[in-house]
Amino acid sequence: MTDMIEQARAILRNNDRGGYTVPTHRLYPFQWNWDSAFVAMGWVTFDEARGFTEVERLLEGQWDDGFIPHIVFHAPSDDYFPGPSVWGVEHTPPTSGITQPPVLASAVRRMLDHAKDRAAAEACVAAIYPRLLAHHRWWQRARDPAGSGLVSTLHPWETGMDNSPAWDAALARVPTTTTTPVQRRDTAHVDASMRPRAEEYQRFIHLVDLFRDVGWQPEKMLAVSPFRVADIATNSILLRAERDLLALAERFGQAGHTAEISARAEQMRSAIGGLWSTRLGLFQSLDLIDRTPIDVAISAGLLPLYAGAADASCTRAIAATLQRWAGQVRFLVPSTAPDDPRFDALRYWRGPVWAMMNWMIAEGAAGSGEAGLATDLRSSTRDMIANAGFSEYFDPRDGRGIGGRDFSWTAAIYLLLS
Ligand code: GLC
Repeated sequence: MTDMIEQARAILRNNDRGGYTVPTHRLYPFQWNWDSAFVAMGWVTFDEARGFTEVERLLEGQWDDGFIPHIVFHAPSDDYFPGPSVWGVEHTPPTSGITQPPVLASAVRRMLDHAKDRAAAEACVAAIYPRLLAHHRWWQRARDPAGSGLVSTLHPWETGMDNSPAWDAALARVPTTTTTPVQRRDTAHVDASMRPRAEEYQRFIHLVDLFRDVGWQPEKMLAVSPFRVADIATNSILLRAERDLLALAERFGQAGHTAEISARAEQMRSAIGGLWSTRLGLFQSLDLIDRTPIDVAISAGLLPLYAGAADASCTRAIAATLQRWAGQVRFLVPSTAPDDPRFDALRYWRGPVWAMMNWMIAEGAAGSGEAGLATDLRSSTRDMIANAGFSEYFDPRDGRGIGGRDFSWTAAIYLLLS
């Protein structure tokens, strides 16, 4: 076993807080939703039981209506703002009241497929499957009640890409006023130039105040939110997750489940197809307040490849887009197009490379007949991590590791790529 694999495993072990893994020590001291899905797949490469425990602990945060929060606050910590009292959610364990991209069903399917202890894995998945189905039903009921085929995202944190330039215009409609005093802790742990700006934080907290005041009721949140987008990442990840859930339903579901899931997936596939931009050479998110496509080229716009929603000509155009970007930065995939004026190589989702995005894009390329692209992306991601360490994100110009250190999902992706 290589030293890097040993180090990656050690990061997961060190970030283990008892059946759940924190994204990194101090900066993110709780369990995060999509982080845990990647991390669970990483665990399964060397400890299958622990991988399934990660999922079960995340599901401790699931609400009765199927919602899965973006954070589960298993144990108190002063290192993070906003903590449980700001969210004001009544649940044990305490949780946030917004969600995150639903990678979970895809992770569980992959974990099952790779498990060597078949009987144990099947028993775990049989118990988890109904919870995943409830979650996907929640997405449709709570976030696409009109049946458009695209789910709404109501907070930049829900997209997992907090300060992406794709949200600049939509977020500008959100007032900067808050009832909760903003007491950031993140900039005590990481250089402020690599984090969202103060004004963005005011708006993030304004939305939290607003949703808390309507009691976290889905229909009210949809109605009052001044921020409402059909995020291309969330929609692509949900479509992929529906396909993976379908495979699980064939083995663990009941009569009617496969037809129900297939219908949702087909509707999403066709709606996502409508978000293609020939000019940008990738897919776009849609601003649902003014119904306009969001005209910014970001790495999320490549994820329909991962969802199996890009036809042959879109797939070719996406490969060309990546080739163009490769001529402008040394390391793929920058989170924002390097030739976009809003590109910022260091600032979080405005330019840096994120390992789990690369992994999903490579999975998509491999599944869409772009095997060469998938191989190149996988090996450059592995090299980048090997050179820079298990950072939160990376400078696309030189591959330097930036943001938080010893990051769980970066370690997990390294394990998946090894
Ligand atoms: C940041 C990221 C988000 C991630 C979280 C924990 O908020 O933008 O995607 O889930 O940190 O790592």
